[in-house]
Order: sequence, then structure tokens, then C-alpha cells
Amino acid sequence: MFLKHVWYNILDINIQEQTMKTIIYSQSHDLTIPAQIIQNGGIVACPTETVYGLCANALNETAVSNIFKAKGRPSDNPLIVHIASIDMLDQLVKDISPMAQALIDKFWPGPLTLIFNSTNVVPAIVRAGLATVAIRFPSHPIMQILIKQANVPIAAPSANVSGKPSPTNARRVIEDMDTKIDAIIDGGSCEFGVESTVVDTTRELPIILRPGVITAQMITEVVGNIKTDSFDKTPISPGMKYTHYSPNAKVIIVTGDNAIKTISNLVKANPTAGVLLPQEYKEQFINIPYISLGSENDLAQIASVLFEKLREVDDLGLESVYTIYLPQVDIGEAIMNRLIKACGNNIIFAGG
Ligand code: TXA
Ligand code: MG
Repeated sequence: MFLKHVWYNILDINIQEQTMKTIIYSQSHDLTIPAQIIQNGGIVACPTETVYGLCANALNETAVSNIFKAKGRPSDNPLIVHIASIDMLDQLVKDISPMAQALIDKFWPGPLTLIFNSTNVVPAIVRAGLATVAIRFPSHPIMQILIKQANVPIAAPSANVSGKPSPTNARRVIEDMDTKIDAIIDGGSCEFGVESTVVDTTRELPIILRPGVITAQMITEVVGNIKTDSFDKTPISPGMKYTHYSPNAKVIIVTGDNAIKTISNLVKANPTAGVLLPQEYKEQFINIPYISLGSENDLAQIASVLFEKLREVDDLGLESVYTIYLPQVDIGEAIMNRLIKACGNNIIFAGG
């Protein structure tokens, strides 16, 4: 009798896990309950200055494994551990090189993730078995309060289903995560819109594993020489090998001097296709679904809306969308890194 009762309880828990009631908190709420959810091993989506994160206690293996489940994330792709004070760093990392310290002093709190040699305090599941751990001190006040109130380091990947564009507002988190996690804190739209720059500090020269708002030039100014993880080789950052950021629609990048003319011809011949372009080309695409990225002269603005615009491609029910290369300077490097991944090598060369 007792055993039967226990068994039903287990079934109940399983059913609840699949159809969990996800509570939405507006940013005016105090964060006592979301912080308690984290302490009790639950998952809360929270805004950061880059994208929304799926937050759980980084020191609780079960909670972390539930993040992987909610996202459908491969277990060999490690998570970033978020802290809200430099004091929290000491227990997590073995050593801080002078180069790492210089980057911390300049860019934390902010959109920069640093890779360190990990202590055993960080569970292996967080690191996907690597000897290193990724740490970020976010600047977003809501994320900082959540970490401080929960009083634990927080593991947080972007709050999308694995492979989809990262969510930059609560509506997109709900789209991917409703019924899969305990709560979502709605903090409006994220400021930067692309994920943090990831820099490996465990080698002699810092290596940029993922470009972001903190650009190669900004890092070079602080530490001198740097290396960039080449796309052609096996990536050092496990996450970079996966197709990422893709809407359901096929994304096609057209490059070369005749890019706009070529897109115009291709899209006219295809009633289920649209374009994802800076606003400057609008008059060349009359009666074509046109998703505007904003002005090509403001790459920071384009970065801040890029993932939202990729999701709008699916809202319009398009089967394919054409876009162009933007200048790969400064934040443009992060934009093109994400777009090239989104297109899964669908690149057309159009002269030039
Ligand atoms: O802006 C951000 O970084 C957001 C917000 C939520 O903080 N987070 C985020 O997490 O983008 P995620 O899991 O989507 O991306 C983490 C990236 C992946 O490419 C992963 O492979 C890499 O960081 N990474 C994590 N730990 C690593 C490690 N020990 N060594 C190398 N790369 C690592
Ligand atoms: Mg991600």
C-alpha cells in the first residue's frame, strides 16, 4: 500500500515536470520567491544585459541537469557560471592570471565570460567534464539581485531551446520555455542582444572563443596580443561546433557586389521567401516580406535586434529568408558569427 502510494507520487512528479506551471514575474516584483526557487533546485529565466538566461544553482547537479533537459542541450556543451561579486570567484577557479585580472578589472561586471582552470567545487556536469570553467559577472541589475538573494553561483545558458535564436525578451522565453521551467522574470528587452564574448585565459595568449559586444580590439587594448578561435579548426569552445541561432526558415546569406540584385531576383521567384536586411534597401523590395534590421550605419542597434528579427522570420511563416554580409568590424564580427551559424553554410557568392 505504502509502495503504491510512493509510486503514484513519483508519477505525479514526472507529469508535473512535463507540464509545469511557469510563473511570470514582472520586474516590479521583488525577487524573494525566484531566489527561493533557485535555492530549492528550480529553474528561473532571468534577463541579462546580453540575452535571457536559464538560471539554476550551479552547485546543484540535479538542478543543472534539468537545465540541459529544458533546453534539449547536448551534455558535452558546458554552461557559464554567473557570479555577483568577485568574492564568489575564489571558490570556483584555481588561479587568476595577470591577463585575466586585467580583463576582470576592465570589463566586469559586463558582457565578458572568462575561462579559468576550475576547482572541484564546480560540478563536472556544469563544465561538461572539462578541467576549465566559464565565469561571467553580469551587469544587469535583476540578474545581480537574483544571484545575491539566492546566494549561490548561477549556471545559466541562453534561455532558448537548443539551436534556436537566443531570446532577448520575455515573450520569446515563454515561447520556448513555458511549462518547462518554474518561473520567468520579465525585465523587458535586453540591451546588447548578442551573448557575451567568451575569452579563454588559461593559455599564454588570450583566445576569443566567441565574439561579442566586448570586441577583439577592446580586449587587445587591455592585454596586448590575442588569438581568435578559427572556424575551420576543431573549436576549443564546445558550443561553437553546433548549428545555432536558426529559425525554422532557411537562412541564406548572399555576398559580393551583386548581392542585393541577386536577392531581389531570387526572392521574386519564390513566394515563400522574404528578406532580412538593413533598412536602407527597402525601396528595392516592394511587395516582398521585408524584415528590417535598422540602419547599416548602426551595427550595435542591429546586434540588439538580430535574434528577435530571426524569430520574426518564423512569425511571418516564411520558408526562407535572404540576408547579406555586414562589415565584420567591431560588433559586426559578433553579428556575422551568429548569422553564419544561422545559415548553416547556405552562402551564395554573387560577383565582386
Ligand atoms: O551572454 C551570455 O553569455 C549568456 C547569458 C545568459 O549570460 N549565456 C550564454 O550561455 O550564452 P550559452 O550556454 O548559451 O553559451 C555558453 C558558451 C558556449 O559556447 C559554451 O560552449 C562555452 O560558452 N563554454 C562554456 N564553458 C566553457 C569552457 N569551460 N570552455 C570553453 N567554452 C565554454
Ligand atoms: Mg546559447
